[in-house]
Amino acid sequence: MSDQFSLLILPGDGIGTEVMAEVRKVIGWFGDKRGLSFSIDEDLVGGCAYDAHGTPLTDATMAKAQAADAVLLGAVGGPAYDNLDFSVKPERGLLRLRKEMDLFANLRPAQCFDALADFSSLKREVVAGLDILIVRELTSGVYFGEPRGIHADDNNPDNEGGRVGVNTQRYTSGEIRRVARAAFELAKKRGNRVCSMEKANVMESGILWREEVQWVHDNEYPEVELTHMYADNGAMQLVRRPSQFDVIVTDNLFGDILSDAAAMLTGSLGMLPSASLGAPAANGRPKALYEPVHGSAPDIAGQGKANPIACILSFAMALRYSFDKGADADLLERAVEKVLADGARTADLMGPEGGTPVSTSEMGDRILQALDALA
Ligand code: IPM
Ligand code: MG
Repeated sequence: MSDQFSLLILPGDGIGTEVMAEVRKVIGWFGDKRGLSFSIDEDLVGGCAYDAHGTPLTDATMAKAQAADAVLLGAVGGPAYDNLDFSVKPERGLLRLRKEMDLFANLRPAQCFDALADFSSLKREVVAGLDILIVRELTSGVYFGEPRGIHADDNNPDNEGGRVGVNTQRYTSGEIRRVARAAFELAKKRGNRVCSMEKANVMESGILWREEVQWVHDNEYPEVELTHMYADNGAMQLVRRPSQFDVIVTDNLFGDILSDAAAMLTGSLGMLPSASLGAPAANGRPKALYEPVHGSAPDIAGQGKANPIACILSFAMALRYSFDKGADADLLERAVEKVLADGARTADLMGPEGGTPVSTSEMGDRILQALDALA
């Protein structure tokens, strides 16, 4: 008797709907050929939810997300929503999911597929075989810290324009310790090395970050190698010699920035999946949301040009981290590798030598064929 897994699918905006259609084919394949049983619900998030309900995430959708074994999200946002009030912008839907589900550990692997090493903006020898994992804290820091806002700078006549914008970088020791533990646990299953990044040279929250990560290391994970780096140096080292890293653990804002840089090492943002995990729920499974690192790409939406691989690999992460189906996750990752090795390329993966790109749905079909061939 196989378990039934409940999945909430939130395709969102822009290319989110196109890439998610390919993920649904892949989910169907695992149902048919590997006997995995999913109950699937689909709903709105982001701009499309705002259009339908006047909010980027309704309470009803939020409740479904809390109840699901895993949430699969496409992308949110688009130029049509640029001038909306901050509180109802598409991104607020995503941030609410992260915050209310308490998804504090955001796993962003950056792996360079051999077939794509020449697509990186760095030299092949710098990125070939690259396999690093950024663990980004996702529910605190400057993204959520109070006070925040834009207000009049009343008592400061020298301030031309008369306004002040405020955000707060705030971390508790507990918030730092729990994400540090997640990073050390993951490192033990990989290269056994963690590099923690902050700005302890200018920020008190950075000093606390460094001390607490060190504390978790010394008390709980002395067998894992731990180093510390200022985040600006970390950015430089990521493009200088990325292979020096195994697991990087860092805060919400630095993690946002460093993971985009790491993404480009691999050739295309269209390749990178992510998992956002919380504490284990009553059934032992962590609260979880899986999404590609790329955004809604409004410039190419609706044209069949989008690369569905990041979203498909996000489903592979769901198989591994939510459903404990590591062998199925491996199979899906090998299928993607095979399709790339066989030369299939979406438009984002067209090198200087050119060629004919495959469409979004053709890439999905090829991955199904590769699954058939490898299974
Ligand atoms: C990301 C994105 C989001 C973030 C946006 C869409 C709110 O850039 O997931 O990296 O800043 O966290
Ligand atoms: Mg980002």
